[in-house]
Amino acid sequence: MKVITTIEEMQTIMNKLELQDKSIGFVPTMGFLHEGHLTLLNKARKDNDIIVLSIFVNPLQFGPKEDYAEYPRDFERDRALAESERVDFLFHPSVGEMYPNEPSVKVTVQDRTDVLCGKSRPGHFDGVATVITKLFNIIRPTRAYFGKKDAQQVAVLEGLVSDFNIPVELIPVDIVRENDGLAKSSRNVNLLPKERQEAPILYRSLQAAEAAIKQGERNPANLIGIISNMITNESTGTIDYVQIYTYPQLKPLEKLEGTIIIALAVKFTKVRLIDNYITNID
Ligand code: PAJ
Repeated sequence: MKVITTIEEMQTIMNKLELQDKSIGFVPTMGFLHEGHLTLLNKARKDNDIIVLSIFVNPLQFGPKEDYAEYPRDFERDRALAESERVDFLFHPSVGEMYPNEPSVKVTVQDRTDVLCGKSRPGHFDGVATVITKLFNIIRPTRAYFGKKDAQQVAVLEGLVSDFNIPVELIPVDIVRENDGLAKSSRNVNLLPKERQEAPILYRSLQAAEAAIKQGERNPANLIGIISNMITNESTGTIDYVQIYTYPQLKPLEKLEGTIIIALAVKFTKVRLIDNYITNID
């Protein structure tokens, strides 16, 4: 595995690989790798000749009061994990390398950002779309892998790729969970011990909603009620949102039908956790 820190070197390598007609699988991350990231890498390994992992905590996608400084980082541990996953190139640029100047052009996401994390985190998806545009231009991957844990991110990036005609195939990957159901996240280490014990209620509340749907519930408000009550009664977290929308359009709906997403975000002392459930209703 080769670690690369400059854009120029990364582009030189990618140019050579393109001439050799290699397929490139790309997994963009902010590091502090866990099994969710490793599952994306595994899938990329199976589908492609070469895999590129990027580790870059992107300041542009954090709001001024968010956890950019506290975001966990451990490059040496990540490097060893990447090596054991047979990553070919690990792209690890500095903030100065990625953003040497105030950007003269920024990507602004127009659709799907007035809901869920886009609403709670103004500017977040502009930051994600901007860094992903840069990373796609640097790596020029054949396929790029994204987790459905960040389902709104997947939907927004599908819009980016389609609107800007970026020649890459986006591959969404299922959510990877701890044994107790908590969705794996780099941020889980910032939960207090008591909060870590409570956190699986997020998934359990989604399972309760799933069971209610299977029993015929079709009213979004009732499902939101079930989920909100469980989280409020069984955790010290504060609900940021519990919402149900069409997926991937993220439009409101009065009655469940078609493909829907039930998405939630809950704030704990130092972290905000998200989870979701996507299903197709006949
Ligand atoms: P990060 O949070 O590090 O996540 C990197 C990728 O791993 C994302 O596609 C995310 O959805 C996926 N992932 C995280 N936890 C997962 C889980 N439990 N199961 C499945 N996939 C999971 O998302 C970002 O970084 C950034 O926004 C990024 C796309 C790198 C742009 O800066």
